[in-house]
Amino acid sequence: MKKLYIKTFGCQMNVYDSERMADVLAPTGYVQTDAPEDADMVILNTCHIREKASEKVFSDLGRLRVLKKRAQEQQNRQMLIAVAGCVAQAEGEEITRRAPYVDMVVGPQTYHRLPELVARADPSARKSVVDTEFPQEVKFDFLPEEAVPRGPAAFLSVQEGCDKFCSFCVVPYTRGAEFSRPASQILAEARRLVASGTREITLLGQNVNAWHGQADNNDGTWGLGRLLRELAEIDGLDRLRYTTSHPLDMDEELMTAHRDIPVLMPYLHLPVQAGSDKILAAMNRRHKADDYRRIIERLRALRPDIALSGDFIVGFPGESDKDFADTIKLVSDIGYASAYSFKYSARPGTPASGAGEQIEEGVKSDRLAALQQLLDAQQLAFNKKCEGMTMPVLIEKQGGRDGQMTGRSPFMQSVYLAGDASWIGRIMELEITQARQNSLWSAPAVIPADTTANATTKGAA
Ligand code: SAH
Ligand code: SF4
Ligand code: F3S
Repeated sequence: MKKLYIKTFGCQMNVYDSERMADVLAPTGYVQTDAPEDADMVILNTCHIREKASEKVFSDLGRLRVLKKRAQEQQNRQMLIAVAGCVAQAEGEEITRRAPYVDMVVGPQTYHRLPELVARADPSARKSVVDTEFPQEVKFDFLPEEAVPRGPAAFLSVQEGCDKFCSFCVVPYTRGAEFSRPASQILAEARRLVASGTREITLLGQNVNAWHGQADNNDGTWGLGRLLRELAEIDGLDRLRYTTSHPLDMDEELMTAHRDIPVLMPYLHLPVQAGSDKILAAMNRRHKADDYRRIIERLRALRPDIALSGDFIVGFPGESDKDFADTIKLVSDIGYASAYSFKYSARPGTPASGAGEQIEEGVKSDRLAALQQLLDAQQLAFNKKCEGMTMPVLIEKQGGRDGQMTGRSPFMQSVYLAGDASWIGRIMELEITQARQNSLWSAPAVIPADTTANATTKGAA
């Protein structure tokens, strides 16, 4: 038995990929550990989306170098180091130059070949084996069946890559062209997950709502809305979610899925990035702020309690005070349950990095603080509205303290309660007794009865 430590940065797709890397390596004898110092192989699954994310990799590598040396000198034990993910794809050469003690560099579309790379790696060679191809073959066709159960709530990648080319974003370069997995493969993986105890599945893609597939029974082409309808039929699958969506691909079938499918949770992460049409155009988002407003209006008409989340970038090149005010206005109009916001980070090779007037760091910081203040207030208000409500919570894992458990509400909030580990995997009707900025709390005395999931929430949002 060999020990494998994986550290994951970035988005949920990387979380999914890390789990699949463990599956790929399991037949060669690797078992996961959470202690890097004991590991025979360490994989950093990296993110290139912003400069800070990228730079973290090199500081982590510095620490791993020490562990590797110590294993060699004190225990005569080899520790293999692999860099995977989007930094590997974008900066493979740079990694081998700056950190020659890295044994393997593997991109997001070639990690199914990890056993081959391990066989080729030579820890004494001070040279990395690099595989950052965009191969002809599709990794999903080569991934083994899941070796490690993924727990009550699991991710399932259904779509890879991106053809949208937003002018700020590295994803089309690090992940490659847009690709949809066949429906039959997705349904089979979902059934296996449910058979191993999973009750909630989140479908993943950089542009998950651009997913499309040929139906097996000559039923034409399916979109994501149709796929969700098929998945909802799986017995024992009590909750469905999907992320991340692009406004351009929010079609009517997908929107009505939020009305028609009880197991589709009333939560949607739909990034808009900015509220100014000028900035949206410069970002190459290809829609206007009012198009986004109309989508939200339609969704709320179909599913009145839907909780909304988004992503925002402040300080995009050329963003004026007026443009930023448009973002604040949009956020005020929509009202988010949660959101992520970032300072624009110029990424090498992307069109926006060389164009327009770059915004001063101080201005970016001020705008981010103002936006986050508004988003935080909206989040707190949304959470406060949940106080006194009773809602189904999927218990996922132990909380930070003894006797504490944590799970998710239908609206993606973390819910904490007193309970014990045998409750993991249950969906429980919990009364929310206290709301905080980032969490909900249920009073200690709860009845540990399982209830069939349903997305309806008593007390109305
Ligand atoms: N596919 C998703 C986004 C994936 S990246 C979408 O289209 O919405 C996640 C988020 O990171 C983006 O929504 C954006 O808000 C942010 N982001 C991406 N590139 C960035 C950059 N160069 N600087 C700052 N934030 C960025
Ligand atoms: Fe990046 Fe835009 Fe594609 Fe999202 S849609 S991954 S932001 S290029
Ligand atoms: Fe980061 Fe790659 Fe995801 S750049 S956000 S890990 S697709």
